Amino acid sequence: MKVYISRIIPKEGIEILQNAGLEITQYSGKTEIPSTELIAICNKHDLFLSVGNNTIDRTFLEACKHLKGIALMSVGYDRVDIAAATALGIPISNTPDVLSKATSDTAFLLILAVSRNAFYMHDSISKKQWGFFEPTANLGIELYNKTLGIFGLGRIGLELAMKCKAAYNMPVIYHNRKPNKEAEKILGAKYVSFDELLTESDVISVHANLSDQTREIFNKDAFSKMKHSAIFINTARGGLHNEQDLTEALEHKKIWGAGLDVTNPEPMAWDNPLLNMRNVCVLPHIGSATIETRAKMAITAADNIVAAMQGKPMPQVIDKQVYSIRK
Ligand code: DGY
Repeated sequence: MKVYISRIIPKEGIEILQNAGLEITQYSGKTEIPSTELIAICNKHDLFLSVGNNTIDRTFLEACKHLKGIALMSVGYDRVDIAAATALGIPISNTPDVLSKATSDTAFLLILAVSRNAFYMHDSISKKQWGFFEPTANLGIELYNKTLGIFGLGRIGLELAMKCKAAYNMPVIYHNRKPNKEAEKILGAKYVSFDELLTESDVISVHANLSDQTREIFNKDAFSKMKHSAIFINTARGGLHNEQDLTEALEHKKIWGAGLDVTNPEPMAWDNPLLNMRNVCVLPHIGSATIETRAKMAITAADNIVAAMQGKPMPQVIDKQVYSIRK
């Protein structure tokens, strides 16, 4: 059987696929594969290991009904029409858990960096602006005992909250579709309404899925309810915030600062004003980008592909119902 991989992935994943006897084609280009081309390629393969921004919508899925499985090398599946895949009997898997620690590290890094204007300070040295010492200049804010608000408290949010509690004794509040009892037990986290999350948090960190319900939920209205001293962190998906509204909130000092590992759109424009703001730190979507985590993600995706090849349920299938539809 043949598997198509839409990026070069770590060798740990490739070895699993090779050992299973799969014939592998890997895309090595540096631009996104156009949808029609991706359909044509997948039509020549039995399985698809999708990495990057491939849109797996109804059109793609109907044109690729023959696929025995699609393994995403990501935890997010906002570009995939899971309902259509289930209806067509195509199992789709993702890579949860293995990236929770690395992604929460990135959120933690951004919280600390924003609180001390770290990226801006770094840039100012390269612009020869390190001069006369002034005790009232370059001041940041401290995080000790400040309230951490998590929007979407799942595995990544839980990892972040544990770090913030251990490092800064931060009490944790959160807003989810449904309460996370495990997190409440481990962290003493308190479930609050979305409005309470906005008004009570000193740091808000976003870890929710991007969906029609959450798209641009952090907008002008939301930023206007946050504390003027609040830090906004997004390591989930850029589509969860309205970037124009965020820029205005920062320009008008409605909030203290922002740390983004994801932007809306991606990549962001080189002249985006956020890049020149002292209280803003931006990273190019590197949440899970460590040698260890990317290897684990490749292994998880490859294991899912091998299971699909063998006609077994993918261990990380997103919608188990697909197996009652698939013959
Ligand atoms: C994920 O795994 O969803 C990361 O954000 C990479 O897209």
